[in-house]
Amino acid sequence: MKPIQVGLMGIGTVGSGTFNVLQRNQGEIRRRAGRGIEITMVADLDMERAKSVVGGAARVVKDAREIIANPEIDVVVELIGGYGIAKQLVLEAIAAGKHVVTANKALLAVHGTEIFQAAADKGVMVAYEAAVAGGIPIIKSLREGLTANSIQWLAGIINGTTNFILSEMRDKGLDFDVVLKEAQRLGYAEADPTFDIEGVDAAHKVTLMSAIAFGIPVQFDKAYVEGITGLAATDIRYAEQLGYRIKLLGITKRTDKGVELRVHPSLVPSKRLIANVEGAMNAVVVHGDAVGTTLYYGKGAGSEPTASAVVADLVDIARLADAEVAHRVPPLAFQSHTLEGAMGSLPVLPMSEVVTSYYLRLRVSDEAGVLAKVTGLLANAGISIDAVLQREADEVGGEGSTQTDLIILTHETREGNMDAALAEIQALPTVLAKINRIRKEELN
Ligand code: NDP
Ligand code: HSE
Repeated sequence: MKPIQVGLMGIGTVGSGTFNVLQRNQGEIRRRAGRGIEITMVADLDMERAKSVVGGAARVVKDAREIIANPEIDVVVELIGGYGIAKQLVLEAIAAGKHVVTANKALLAVHGTEIFQAAADKGVMVAYEAAVAGGIPIIKSLREGLTANSIQWLAGIINGTTNFILSEMRDKGLDFDVVLKEAQRLGYAEADPTFDIEGVDAAHKVTLMSAIAFGIPVQFDKAYVEGITGLAATDIRYAEQLGYRIKLLGITKRTDKGVELRVHPSLVPSKRLIANVEGAMNAVVVHGDAVGTTLYYGKGAGSEPTASAVVADLVDIARLADAEVAHRVPPLAFQSHTLEGAMGSLPVLPMSEVVTSYYLRLRVSDEAGVLAKVTGLLANAGISIDAVLQREADEVGGEGSTQTDLIILTHETREGNMDAALAEIQALPTVLAKINRIRKEELN
C-alpha cells in the first residue's frame, strides 16, 4: 500500500520529537500500520532550525499553507500551538480534505465543536491523543478501552509544569520562580506559562476528557479554573501533617444534576497512588461503573513522550484513512448526533453546585472562644467537621505571638453553602487575614 504522506507544521519541542521517533522506529511502525508513514514536508518559521532537524529527509518551507496546497499530503500535523494561526491552518487543512493530528488542547477545548463539525462535514479525521496527558494514551483508553462503561468521574494530574513546581517546592524547598524557569528549560511549560500555573492548560485537558467521558460538547467556557499561584508553602506543610498532599487536579464528575468540570489545587490523601505522582509526571484516575477505578500514569509532556502520542494518531489514521467514515471511532467517543446539548440532561454545573470537602486555614487571635465561634458558624450552615489542627502561637508568629493558625478539615458540602459560611466567618473580628480554602478530594 502507498505510504501515507504527512506534512508537519511547527517543528519545535513536539515536532522534532515526532520527526525523530518516526524516523527511528519507521520499520516497526510500518509493520503495525500496514503501510509507511512519511513526513515529506515540514513548515516552520525558523527554516534553518527545521533543516537541522530533518536533514534532507523532508522539504522544509516557511509558509505552512504550502503543505495544505500540496495534493500529495494526506495528513497535516499541527504542532504550532495557540488559537490564532493554528486554528486557521487546521480549518483550511480540513477544507482541503486532509486528516489532522494535533497536540493543541487549547485549540480543541475552545474551538473543538467547530473543528469536529468541519471534519465531519468533510469526512476527515481529527486526532488529538497528544493533547491530553502527553504520552499517556488516555484518549484511547476513555474512547475505546472503557467504552463499555458509564463513566462516573475522573480526576487527573494533567499539567506537568505545575506538578513539577509543587514537587520541587515541597521536596527541595525551592522558590516558585526558580522551579518554573527549570520547567520552561525542560520544555514542559507552555509558550505562555500563565496557562500552566493558572490552571488553564489543565482545564483545556479536562474539558476534552469530560466531553469524551460523558458524551457532551467541549465547553471550556463552563469550566471552573483555579491555579497554584495562591498556594502557600505553609499549606503544603500543614496538609502533610494531616496526611495529605496538595496536587493541582482536573476533575470531572457525573452527578444527578449535571457534570462537575473543575481545576483547582486539591488535598489528596497521601496514601493514594495519585498523591505520589511526582515531578512532571501525569496521572489520571477514571472510575467506570463496570471496571471500577483505573489509573493511567506516565510522562505528560516533553519532546518524545508527546511524540509517542502524535505518532500513535498517525498510525490510527494510516489504518483508517480508507475505511468507511461510519467505521471510525467518533472524535468525542459518542456518535456526534447523540451528544447531549449544552442545555441537555447533563449541563455543566456552576461551581456553587459542586459538592466537595474542604481544608480551611484561618489566621486568628489566640484567645478563648475563637474556635467555638468558628465551628459554631460552620455547624449553623450544616457543615460537619472532620478534623481540627491548632498550632502553637509561638510556632506560628514567633515568641510572644498573639496570633495562631487554625486548620479545619470539613466533610462534604455544597460550595455555595461553604461560600456563605466563609463570608460570615471572615467577618469575625478575631479572624485576622483572608481565609485560605483548598478543596479536598478523597478519590475513593
Ligand atoms: P514549540 O514552541 O516548541 O514549537 C512550535 C513551533 O512552531 C516553533 O518551532 C515555531 O517556530 C513554529 N511556528 C510558529 N508559528 C508558525 C507558523 N505560522 N508556521 C509554521 N511554524 C510555526 O511548541 P511545542 O512543541 O512545545 O508545542 C506544540 C504544541 O504541542 C502546542 O499546542 C502545545 O500545547 C502542545 N503540547 C506540547 C507539549 C510539550 O511537552 N511541549 C506536550 C503536549 C502538547 P518559532 O519558534 O520560530 O516561533
Ligand atoms: N505545559 C504542559 C504541561 C505541556 O506542563 O503539562 C503538556 O501538555
